[in-house]
Amino acid sequence: MNPSVRFSRVCLLVLVSALMILYWKKQHCTVFDQIPQGRTVKTRLLILSTWRAGSSFVGQLFNQNPDVFYLMEPIWHVWKLLSTKPPYLLQPAARNLLRSIFLCDMEALTSYVYKDEFISDLFMWQESRALCTPPACNAFQRCDIIDRLLCINDCMQVPFRKIEEACRTYSHIVVKAVRLLDLKVLYPLLRDQSLNLTIIHLVRDPRAIFSSRQYARLNYSNAMLSRSKNSESNVNIVMQKVCDAQVRIYNAARASPPPFPRNHYHLVRFEDLAKNPLDYFKMWYQAFGLTMSSRLESWVHNITSVDEKPIHYGSKDGTLMPISKFSKRTTQYWRENLSFQKVQEVQHLCRENMKVFGYHPVQSEDELKDSLLQLVVPQKSFQEEH
Ligand SMILES: *[C@@H]1O[C@H](CO)[C@@H](O)[C@H](O)[C@H]1NC(C)=O
Ligand SMILES: *[C@@H]1O[C@H](CO)[C@@H](O)[C@H](O)[C@H]1NC(C)=O
Ligand SMILES: *[C@@H]1O[C@H](CO)[C@@H](O)[C@H](O)[C@H]1NC(C)=O
Ligand SMILES: *[C@@H]1O[C@H](CO)[C@@H](O)[C@H](O)[C@H]1NC(C)=O
Repeated sequence: MNPSVRFSRVCLLVLVSALMILYWKKQHCTVFDQIPQGRTVKTRLLILSTWRAGSSFVGQLFNQNPDVFYLMEPIWHVWKLLSTKPPYLLQPAARNLLRSIFLCDMEALTSYVYKDEFISDLFMWQESRALCTPPACNAFQRCDIIDRLLCINDCMQVPFRKIEEACRTYSHIVVKAVRLLDLKVLYPLLRDQSLNLTIIHLVRDPRAIFSSRQYARLNYSNAMLSRSKNSESNVNIVMQKVCDAQVRIYNAARASPPPFPRNHYHLVRFEDLAKNPLDYFKMWYQAFGLTMSSRLESWVHNITSVDEKPIHYGSKDGTLMPISKFSKRTTQYWRENLSFQKVQEVQHLCRENMKVFGYHPVQSEDELKDSLLQLVVPQKSFQEEH
């Protein structure tokens, strides 16, 4: 064989092998996994929603990506510390804390936590893959899909200051929050180009939210939301507050002239997401410059398929939604679980919300139980309208 032909064959072989190794590395978690040093954050994302609307699930979709530093519900600490104040007074404090977190300045967080000794002093820290992997904790690799129970075992006593150190090694910061009841308070962040902040606003049928809230322990939030109307804990007040907040946020984002760049706000309904979680996941990943591996894709498929055993995550007391129930079935569950009378009450309290987000009220017990009757405006016509 001609030596130059042989040489080019060898070159080709080397090239193909290199590409195969690269591909394999992308799909699998390997020991070559490096911690990037002094990375600048390019993209910040806030998942803005309300309790029991699926935001923990959306958070997890981002959390499991090795380029994402994710915190679930850090504003919980603001509410907890200042729980005797009405929620609207806490909004600016919540916003400022959020800004600090987006800048990886975790000093602000230490003013709200009771203790700042270990990362486990942070609410829901174990939901954050970044706090279970280097440089925070060496028990896992950055590209691992983390089992939170193992993480609790191995990483609980990592020093609190590691949160900031870890944050500084990521290109994307994602925070989920259900305790922001207003968008205006976030305008300074949304208008700050250097933050490059985008919001995913997740809404859900109020009747389903109500049904789900009944079995979740939401005493603190119930008490605080009710207090803003000088009342003891009252589910009707809570539902009304929750519903109104979502409408207010949406209306503010859609105001004319736009208070901040329009493409920094994305509205999504839980019901549409539940039908096609992987489609949304891919769309968002692309929009935010994140890479999807086949492992992540397989993981999403596994946790959203109907036959999977439910994975209750976080605490065992059922505070969080089990993610595998996040299937088409979940979106209809409330229709079996709520009496017609309760449904009517919620429909009354959340009339405006249901109109804005495309949820049809039922007029009778028969309509409620008629599973063939569609109560959600189809995704396509909803998107054209909004
Ligand atoms: C929360 O409310 C439930 C039912 O109303 C009650 O059983 C429980 O003790 C409360 N928990 C706290 C921490 O107040
Ligand atoms: C801002 O974030 C978007 C994704 O939302 C990304 O495509 C863009 O590159 C970021 N801009 C800068 C200046 O980093
Ligand atoms: C998804 O489930 C399949 C079958 O149980 C399993 O082989 C695969 O490893 C799972 N994928 C992930 C990423 O956990
Ligand atoms: C509603 O769901 C809860 C929790 O799954 C269950 O305990 C309860 O019995 C259900 N109620 C009705 C009326 O179906």
